[in-house]
Amino acid sequence: MLTLFEKDHYRDVTEIVNVHFLVADEEPLLATPLTSPPSSPTRRVAVVGCGGIARGRHLPALADQGARTSVVALVDLDAAAVERTADEWNVPGRYTDVDAMLAAESPDLVIVCTPPAAHRDTVIAGLEAGAWVWCEKPPVLSLAEYDRIGAHEGERGPYASYVFQHRFGSGATHLRSLLDRRALGRPLVGVCHTLWYRDEAYFEVPWRARWETEGGGPSMGHGIHQMDLMFSLLGDWSEVTAVMSTTARATETEDVSMAIVRLESGATVSVVNSLLSPRETSYLRFDFEHATVELEHLYGHANANWRWTPAEHTDRTFDAAHWPPRADEPSSHGAQLKELLDAMDRGERPAASGRDGRRALELVAGMYRSALTGATVRRSELTEDDPFHHAMYGPDPAAATAVLSHQEETAHV
Ligand SMILES: NC(=O)c1ccc[n+]([C@@H]2O[C@H](COP(=O)([O-])OP(=O)(O)OC[C@H]3O[C@@H](n4cnc5c(N)ncnc54)[C@H](O)[C@@H]3O)[C@@H](O)[C@H]2O)c1
Repeated sequence: MLTLFEKDHYRDVTEIVNVHFLVADEEPLLATPLTSPPSSPTRRVAVVGCGGIARGRHLPALADQGARTSVVALVDLDAAAVERTADEWNVPGRYTDVDAMLAAESPDLVIVCTPPAAHRDTVIAGLEAGAWVWCEKPPVLSLAEYDRIGAHEGERGPYASYVFQHRFGSGATHLRSLLDRRALGRPLVGVCHTLWYRDEAYFEVPWRARWETEGGGPSMGHGIHQMDLMFSLLGDWSEVTAVMSTTARATETEDVSMAIVRLESGATVSVVNSLLSPRETSYLRFDFEHATVELEHLYGHANANWRWTPAEHTDRTFDAAHWPPRADEPSSHGAQLKELLDAMDRGERPAASGRDGRRALELVAGMYRSALTGATVRRSELTEDDPFHHAMYGPDPAAATAVLSHQEETAHV
């Protein structure tokens, strides 16, 4: 699988390579077989954007679904990329225009793998053509764009959902079911740290770290995975106080952000998103009344990445009764895709869609508002008349860049 990637074209390839090694080293057992249930139809799938993530993650995940999916079309503005990818994966439909593809192919599912600035229009076009849509992170550039997409969904579908693969896999799913049953008591304290490393060359890809094309820095494009996983476990946030800085990279957006987040549950969480950290790690820790649960991984996790420490007051059978889960399925695009196809079969809104897909983007907007204005932000303040609802930089992108690089004290709203 590693031969699928072209390092020079795709600097983010480390994410994918490392996931592959992690998965290969751990020889995971799949929680559920990737074969179709008896009543599952074959879904006609179109993939828009033939770059690193499409080739490295989505097309292999689609192939793993067997008869549940058939990739009928690929789209990219770059005709050569379409041809190359379609030849490699034996895909018949080849397009450089999304609307032409939708009219000709009528796909059941459109997977959006373009850079973030193209997400909104591509997702809306897919929904308007009657297809369900699964779009890469960050979902879109603002809360306003997210809500605009919602207006194009049908009451019973088609729905748009977003790629947040780290909330899937057996470890996260098992912990979520324990929390649903209130088995661990109240969440009290949390840590949600995404400490990654990206050198200057990474930012040579023109759409990266620019307000108009990526929408933000590591808060928007990298730590959003960990933040989404945390909210999928612990629920909504209520208040955030953040600082951000452009410390070492020549970017419009921040290269590091930190926040203190209060959750609706009453728990307090420390959030750090960095692209400047040579020993990379993704670290989450949740202290519940009856146990500490930790997850340390990099770009994907299996059961071995989780650590469980019961509180002293719990009896000795507590640990064994709750951990590890019986299955060992890594977090992955394939794990989320399988659940999406199940939701399509049931005709139900999938996970990471609608309100459930919006939480991490809400925190990102709150973090930018707090860091750029110097004030604590409540989630309820991010209403339609707030500039940070419409853009992560608030009223003025140049002013936001000046604040992050410490040339101005705060942006004026
Ligand atoms: N989930 C993850 O772990 C993960 C990891 C890496 C990237 N991503 C996300 O995936 C998306 C794509 O990232 P990438 O690294 O593959 O980018 P990339 O630059 O390698 O590929 C993007 C492709 O989209 C094409 N494209 C651009 N605009 C288009 C349009 N309007 N219509 C059709 N094609 C268009 C480009 O020509 C290019 O081939 C981004 O949103 C990124 O944040 C997610």
